[in-house]
Amino acid sequence: MKKTVLVSGGAGFIGSHVTVELIEAGYDVVIADNFSNCDLTNYNGACAITGRKLPLVEMDFCDPEAVEKLFSDYKIDAVIHFAAFKAVGESVWEPLKYYRNNVESFINLLETAERHGGCNVLFSSSATVYGEPEELPVTEKSPRQPATSPYGNTKQICEDMLRDTVKAKPVIKGIALRYFNPIGAHPSALIGELPRGVPNNLVPFITQTAIGKRECLSIFGNDYPTEDGTCLRDYIDVVDLAKAHVYAVRRMLEGKMKEDYEIFNVGTGRPVSVLELVKTFEKVNGVKLNWKYAPRRAGDVTAIWADPTIANKELGWKAERTVEETLAAAWAWEKRVAEM
Ligand code: UD1
Repeated sequence: MKKTVLVSGGAGFIGSHVTVELIEAGYDVVIADNFSNCDLTNYNGACAITGRKLPLVEMDFCDPEAVEKLFSDYKIDAVIHFAAFKAVGESVWEPLKYYRNNVESFINLLETAERHGGCNVLFSSSATVYGEPEELPVTEKSPRQPATSPYGNTKQICEDMLRDTVKAKPVIKGIALRYFNPIGAHPSALIGELPRGVPNNLVPFITQTAIGKRECLSIFGNDYPTEDGTCLRDYIDVVDLAKAHVYAVRRMLEGKMKEDYEIFNVGTGRPVSVLELVKTFEKVNGVKLNWKYAPRRAGDVTAIWADPTIANKELGWKAERTVEETLAAAWAWEKRVAEM
């Protein structure tokens, strides 16, 4: 019997890529989204890539009755929980909005899953939990640092809620995937990142500058203690990232977990500086980018990249795409968005 995976926030950037990979791996998917931060573009794109009319429920995970109805209507074998707000800066100005949405929705999900006899729960976490790491690369054992934003704090709180629930309720199993910096788009250019307003993240800002939507990219800080003075990050292709979810879901559904709550870093293990990324983008896509150095951005860490050994070994997953391929895909997507 085919297993069904609920993808909360499945119409968003990462959720839509994960949906496509799950379908290609032979799972059935139910997408649930409240469309608070996206439109139907990625949902339609995921349907086009998979050649299916994917089941879609428009609902809010903060509404316990809606979550109850979802679990009554579908037999759900695993859940991947993406539905959350993710703008670091906004979370500083509107902390309660973030705590209410990100934490309450996850409480509703866990309570309902338990009431319905249990579930395998995969939580979408972030490398932000490591803060400014003392040692690089970071392993899953590296200490978490106090969060520097309410957004980051919600990731830590949700990880803890999952860990504690798994401990108390044997019918719930959990995996937290800690993403490094997800970038890029599906090679079909049918799904990708669609930020509302001015992008906060580097790659959408680069592609929007290249297409002429933004005048100039600011590189935040060239006085960091790194080789070229700009920050180092671990940019992970969104399709590679999506595949890690399929491996993690399979591990849960096939009863291969070594512990009932597990954590995996999902990164490439390869640090890339902001300047290198900008230059690579220009080179692979043959475009000239308008950019300048600007002061450091508050809250940015100097350098962070993953030690992905445990994910490689335990999940049998490895990041495969090169930064060049990923930046070409990001550019193809931006050009397609311009035609929409
Ligand atoms: C941020 C969040 C992280 C979140 C991730 C989602 C923090 C501190 N960061 O990571 O939690 O999971 O986004 O993708 O919580 N940069 C520029 N110019 C720009 C934009 C960015 O130079 O216009 C630089 C930044 O200074 C940074 C790098 O590019 O060095 C990457 O920035 P960004 O894409 O925003 O990701 P992070 O801040 O690493």
